Amino acid sequence: MRTTTAATALLAATLAPLALSAPTAEHHAQRQHQQQQQYVKLHKPTGAPSIAHSKDFTSFSFEPAFWTEFFGEAETPNQLTLSLLSRLSERGARPVIRPGGITMDSMIFDPAATKSAVRTTNAKGGVYRTTIGPSFYKAWDNFPEGTGFVSTLNFGNDSYDIARDLAAASHRYQRDKIRHFELGNEPTNYVSTRWQNKTDAYVAQWKDWTGRIDAELDNPKRSWWASSATTDKTGLEVRPAALIPAGIDDQKQVGQYSIHSYAFATCDPKRDALATIPNILNHTHLLEYADVEIYPSAKAALDEGNQWIVGEFNSVACSGKPNVTDTFAQALWTVDTDLIYAERNASAVYLHQGATLVFQSSQQSNTAGDDGGPGFSAYSLLYPVDSSKRGKARVNPGFVGQLFVTEALGTERVASLPAPKGVDSDYFAAYAFYDRDEGKKIRRVAAINSKPYYGKTGGNKRDSSDNAVHLDLSSLMPAALKGKKAWLKRMTAPAVNETDTARVTWAGQSFKQAVPEGKVDIERVPKDGKVEVRDSEAVLVFFYEDDVFRQ
Ligand SMILES: *[C@@H]1O[C@H](CO)[C@@H](O)[C@H](O)[C@H]1NC(C)=O
Ligand SMILES: *[C@@H]1O[C@H](CO)[C@@H](O)[C@H](O)[C@H]1NC(C)=O
Ligand SMILES: *[C@@H]1O[C@H](CO)[C@@H](O)[C@H](O)[C@H]1NC(C)=O
Ligand SMILES: *[C@@H]1O[C@H](CO)[C@@H](O)[C@H](O)[C@H]1NC(C)=O
Ligand SMILES: *[C@@H]1O[C@H](CO)[C@@H](O)[C@H](O)[C@H]1NC(C)=O
Ligand SMILES: *[C@@H]1O[C@H](CO)[C@@H](O)[C@H](O)[C@H]1NC(C)=O
Repeated sequence: MRTTTAATALLAATLAPLALSAPTAEHHAQRQHQQQQQYVKLHKPTGAPSIAHSKDFTSFSFEPAFWTEFFGEAETPNQLTLSLLSRLSERGARPVIRPGGITMDSMIFDPAATKSAVRTTNAKGGVYRTTIGPSFYKAWDNFPEGTGFVSTLNFGNDSYDIARDLAAASHRYQRDKIRHFELGNEPTNYVSTRWQNKTDAYVAQWKDWTGRIDAELDNPKRSWWASSATTDKTGLEVRPAALIPAGIDDQKQVGQYSIHSYAFATCDPKRDALATIPNILNHTHLLEYADVEIYPSAKAALDEGNQWIVGEFNSVACSGKPNVTDTFAQALWTVDTDLIYAERNASAVYLHQGATLVFQSSQQSNTAGDDGGPGFSAYSLLYPVDSSKRGKARVNPGFVGQLFVTEALGTERVASLPAPKGVDSDYFAAYAFYDRDEGKKIRRVAAINSKPYYGKTGGNKRDSSDNAVHLDLSSLMPAALKGKKAWLKRMTAPAVNETDTARVTWAGQSFKQAVPEGKVDIERVPKDGKVEVRDSEAVLVFFYEDDVFRQ
């Protein structure tokens, strides 16, 4: 067990009789530095805690065209991806899987297809069509027990039969595993002649088709996601905030309103230049995007007494950015972003996985593989198979962020804590997790110091406490636990831009092959509640031993 917090060092320094250590000049300077260390108090949240969350809060979206790469065939599943999902389910999470994204709008069901999912592409890897067969649905049985799915339907081809056949097939093979239906992905990006930019025209066709499918399949009420819009400025206004007044839910069909969140992009050179590590970790910017672009739609849904979700999201649209989203920065981004939406009462967030889509933008910085094969998205949790573009199959550094959020949120309520005085609020966020029943008792606290840290030593060593925030958590502890030591798990890496997953750890362990490597390291927080969080590090403090997952 490691006790390297500066608090412990300070304690030791104070207790050690000065005469014993015959201090060198260097020692002396170091001690003075530690004594000057200012611990800033984290104060209780000012806002109300969120709704109590569900085990499916951290869910996933997988581009259907690359389903086979991520999950294999029904008889020969991809163990790397399934093992990664098991790391989450053993911690109590039950992610829902959405085989969704741009390619769901050119997906068809062929009852005679022998493979799960087959792409029809051009030489450069552009996907015209994805054909799925019965084994696509049968493969759902390979997922961890209790995994639910979204039955995603093609709206892009404007063929009722294609959409209905997909819905009917999902029903025939996996009725019990379907949690929601979704008709179309990002209708904001369809050809604008389809609905002439008229929200009402979109709503009329959506209601017509979903109503007919509900009748044919005898679906229960509220089976559907609605909207699935991006926040791009387009001629067609179909975010939930626009669809709700237009009467999308007249027939009580909508179970959850879905909106897609991408605050950064590599889709064109102008936005590519802004997709940097310092920008994606700027908490103020992430909050601004959430409150300006996403929350009005969330609020419209909540005001209707309905649920809302982030039905697809990731850090950098158009498949991420190498050396940014395939680094440890992605883990810090994940934790902060998930918790921003959890506090705003999202019922779930679906982190998107996939590969570069050549037809998405002619100006994007990413490409498919040289052989026309998948150029796996640099924001993906893993590169699911060996590829010319990304090398060996492996888990990416961002994955530990999922472990952090899973253990932090559980099924609890969350509220953000204001950044303490003197701490840079562009690069700091903290959250308290309240018990799900009454929402009164703080069980856990997360602190994310997202200030980019590029390392000094180049090795695995922690540097001096210059590049750190020093927090005093004592005022957050439940009264009954005052004077007791808490437990702490740390998410860290030698530097923010670390790309080697073997050097990125959660509670001391790394997960490059989706299995834990190394010994679990659960630190103890001293009785005075003092904690050091280095720049580009996040910690999760547990006040109750029962909450500490040990493996
Ligand atoms: C569906 O639309 C795509 C273009 O979005 C087209 O390439 C494909 O051929 C269409 N598929 C069918 C079955 O009509
Ligand atoms: C829809 O709006 C977009 C953006 O304003 C515009 O470029 C496009 O021409 C419009 N399409 C139609 C059919 O009016
Ligand atoms: C962080 O983002 C905010 C809002 O976009 C901006 O005002 C601020 O300058 C950014 N901070 C840094 C350090 O770039
Ligand atoms: C990523 O960074 C490494 C090391 O600095 C460099 O060699 C490589 O070219 C970079 N890759 C891209 C796509 O920028
Ligand atoms: C989230 O829900 C809780 C409980 O209903 C409520 O008190 C809080 O104001 C909501 N927060 C937001 C941001 O909507
Ligand atoms: C990480 O950042 C350091 C310092 O800027 C740089 O020397 C190194 O090449 C970067 N590594 C990658 C993989 O980009």
